[in-house]
Amino acid sequence: MSAHTFRIRTEEAEYAVPVECTHRKGWLKCGKISRTKHGGCFVTCPLHFSTFDVQTGRQVSGPASSNLATTKLHDLNSGG
Ligand code: FES
Repeated sequence: MSAHTFRIRTEEAEYAVPVECTHRKGWLKCGKISRTKHGGCFVTCPLHFSTFDVQTGRQVSGPASSNLATTKLHDLNSGG
């Protein structure tokens, strides 16, 4: 994991997530993390509120125009 990423845990895995938003480099590390009851996990930028799916990196709302390069580090349930 690089110094430019931080970790977010979902129910099933841990992901490396870029510290900076793809829009105007808002600090995602200080963003809001929300989880759905179906296992979804999202991070919302504190600057202009773009929201990204942590598991796929896909932008789901907000002014950003590109997805986030998230990386699955390991599954939590497989011991790996
Ligand atoms: S810097 Fe993240 S939405 Fe603008």
